[in-house]
Amino acid sequence: MKQVLLTGDRPSGKLHLGHYVGSLLSRVEMQRQYESYIMVTDVQALTDNFEKPDIVQKNIYEVALDYLAVGIDPNIATIYIQSQIPEVTELTIYFMNLVSLSRLERNPTVKAELAQKGMTESIPVGFLCYPINQAADITIFSAEVIPVGEDQQPMIEQTNEIVRRFNRIYNVDLLKECRAHIGVNGRLPGIDGKSKASKSLGNAIFLSDDTATIKSKVREMFTDPNHLKVSDKGRVEGNVVFTYLDAFHKDKGEVSALKEHYQRGGLGDVPIKELLFQDLETLLAPIREKRANFSTEFVRSVLKEGTLRARAKAQETMRKIRAAMHLDHFV
Ligand code: TRP
Repeated sequence: MKQVLLTGDRPSGKLHLGHYVGSLLSRVEMQRQYESYIMVTDVQALTDNFEKPDIVQKNIYEVALDYLAVGIDPNIATIYIQSQIPEVTELTIYFMNLVSLSRLERNPTVKAELAQKGMTESIPVGFLCYPINQAADITIFSAEVIPVGEDQQPMIEQTNEIVRRFNRIYNVDLLKECRAHIGVNGRLPGIDGKSKASKSLGNAIFLSDDTATIKSKVREMFTDPNHLKVSDKGRVEGNVVFTYLDAFHKDKGEVSALKEHYQRGGLGDVPIKELLFQDLETLLAPIREKRANFSTEFVRSVLKEGTLRARAKAQETMRKIRAAMHLDHFV
């Protein structure tokens, strides 16, 4: 029996390079080794986009296209839509009894998001509770391996707390603890050098960006504001071009040599940006091409079949959970 791998992304926009290094790449590498479930998390996207259901709906297709284009194979992995598994919503409600309000308020990722979205004055309950919903996503599939970016570590911790409480309270060994699988390159900064690459901050390079867009985003990248002349000594720390070269340039020795040269002085921003542009174009051109070749009909059928398969598995676990909670009245 293979272990279960599960993860997902909010359809609030297209996926970008941050998703790629943080988690997409490992999913592709791991999809054969594990029984894989990859979901488009529209319920979670709605927690802060509830007045924009049209945008969420449209982006379900965009995210699914990104999955297929990077090489997630629908014949191997199950790709599905979160909202279409009502058992997950049911489990979320039961899990709410196991989590305190103060525990939710302590989640550092949720805290940061609330601040970033200006929701600190009046916090929507649904948003605060999304980590509980995420725990239901994970446990209903008995998932043990969760490929996510570093910022999702608090969700995994919260999930495991819920798992332990549930199993103890109902005296079962039913729910499984899980572990985050963080991409080797960790967190990718935005092109502005401020915090992480994110669609809401408008500082990300999308997997679907065309050549000209990639070129102009690389040109705009934050480097070292004190490196005015080519002959000046340059800083490598916090220099986005070097962080991206670390993540994407295959020849690590060459990157070290370039860093040394840049720090010594005599190496300008133009050649390192050109090198990075070439790397990104080499990576993204085939993804862009694949993306353009999948029809809407095909994406729809992938999502539909995946959702049916996923739901059957969720229903099986939910039957056991209802029995453990003495909710199996009519079976
Ligand atoms: N919170 C994740 C994100 O923002 C999306 C997500 C929802 C998820 N449910 C999940 C990730 C379950 C892993 C497992 O990207």
